[in-house]
Amino acid sequence: MTTSQKIDHLHEMREQSKQGGGEARIEAQHERGKMTARERLDVLLDPGSFRELDAFVIHRERNFGMDAPDKQFLGDSVVTGWGTIHGRLVYVYSQDFTVVGGSLSEVHANKICKIMEMATKTGAPLIGLNDSGGARIQEGVVSLGGYADIFLRNTMASGIIPQISAIMGPCAGGAVYSPALTDFIFMVKNSSYMFVTGPDVIKAVTHEEVTFEELGGAMTHSSKSGVCHVPTEDETDCMMLIRELLTYLPQNNMEDPPYEPNSDDPLRRDAQLNEIVPDDPSKPYDIKEVIRMVVDDGHFYEIHEHYASNIVVGFARLGGYSIGIVANQPAVLAGVLDIKASAKAARFVRFCDCFNIPIITFEDVPGFMPGLDQEHSGIIREGAKLVFAYSEATVPKITVITRKSYGGAYCVMNSKHIRSDLNLAWPTAEIAVMGPDGAVNIIFRRELAAADDPVAKKAELVQDYRDRFANPYVAASRGFIDDVIEPKETRPRLINALEVLRNKRASNPPKKHGNIPL
Ligand code: HXC
Repeated sequence: MTTSQKIDHLHEMREQSKQGGGEARIEAQHERGKMTARERLDVLLDPGSFRELDAFVIHRERNFGMDAPDKQFLGDSVVTGWGTIHGRLVYVYSQDFTVVGGSLSEVHANKICKIMEMATKTGAPLIGLNDSGGARIQEGVVSLGGYADIFLRNTMASGIIPQISAIMGPCAGGAVYSPALTDFIFMVKNSSYMFVTGPDVIKAVTHEEVTFEELGGAMTHSSKSGVCHVPTEDETDCMMLIRELLTYLPQNNMEDPPYEPNSDDPLRRDAQLNEIVPDDPSKPYDIKEVIRMVVDDGHFYEIHEHYASNIVVGFARLGGYSIGIVANQPAVLAGVLDIKASAKAARFVRFCDCFNIPIITFEDVPGFMPGLDQEHSGIIREGAKLVFAYSEATVPKITVITRKSYGGAYCVMNSKHIRSDLNLAWPTAEIAVMGPDGAVNIIFRRELAAADDPVAKKAELVQDYRDRFANPYVAASRGFIDDVIEPKETRPRLINALEVLRNKRASNPPKKHGNIPL
């Protein structure tokens, strides 16, 4: 072959590898309303930035007729490489359902492991687009080993680079555990599902009948299990939301998140904040409104929106700085801390701490959720996760108490005592061991029993307790609250604090790792 023929051959091979499983299967993929692996990368990455690796890899299986030429596909069932998102390097893999159902062969796993290692070595995020029938059945244990190789690398990369998974088709059996080991799972509504055992196995074992969607669809995992962090409308929506998420994140744990100045005035004071907390302490309000009034351009990128909505977590910017927000939501279950809310917030706090993202906590919490089910299901252990996560976090930590801060929840929600850097309270804050009603019932039990008019007596005692304790000044007199501020001052005060804390240095004692109550 002449050099020119060799170059032509290269182009032919490359073209062939781009065909994946061939025209018919690509058509079938489109008919399901799904993009191909390469089309997805075109949408996800900056135009023209993708550089592919291992396009000429082929699988090694010789049994079950897999050695036939029409069972060999250049690149096998996954497309891997790197590219950029908003000009920043990312590593990607995109499983190709048109090649043997995107199933994971030995070489498929090798390809993924190669870019995982490069991502970890060079400190850039890893994004996996998952669309696979699971372990390549013909390859048996070799394929299972491939999964375990990936799990190990997911674990080793955890806390070093952000890892993001998009589920865009089936993801079943042990295959779910790679996404589950990553930081964020996005799912596409109506075309993706995740489960450890499918509807047939469930029917055989437990006699329960369930559809794919009910068992493991995007909304099921977004609202019931919390496995999915962000449900998306379609594949393009999914990719756009991943692109946006990355704008809040650093490339790796050694970098700070990108600073993006914007035109929202850092000194902006929203007068509506002064009126948002109702006079009646039992009335709800929407903490997301508070968040939107405070953050840059009113833009809040919510994580786990449909799961444990009594706590709100997500990303935003303040004065251009990327921040993580944790906020009790008085509009849902009065913002109480229950098992799901504690675990949701703890995981988010830990993510922010891994990646140098300051945490702002908005607090309005009546306490931990009472109840037999909560106690028996481990509210003690789950609540401890949140204490642990906040306590060990060394990023800048700021709390704004908007209203209630009662009991153990006062300690947990980033109190001064667990190394918060700045604790601000609104004049509407109520900081005490418990709400006035419960407190009076306990400490004045005898007086109430002996009173001629117990109702009037109780009202008087409750008012007295409220006047004494249901305010921020007892805590402020101790220095547990650094300042009491007008609500409309919140934005400028937070931006100022973020600037002051920019060079914060804090570390934990050297150890192998802590033992967070799992
Ligand atoms: C080999 C597979 C495959 C697999 C699909 N294919 N999954 N080949 N190994 N795991 C092939 C099909 O034979 C078919 O080939 C092509 O991919 C497309 O699949 P279809 O079935 O035609 O597509 P569809 O009707 O959309 O159904 C998709 C599916 C189904 C629901 C994913 O294929 C399916 O149930 N696959 C098996 C899933 C499974 O049990 N996997 C193993 C799980 S155990 P042709 O040539 O006919 O087009 C596991 C353990 C991991 O993964 C443990 C890790 C620790």
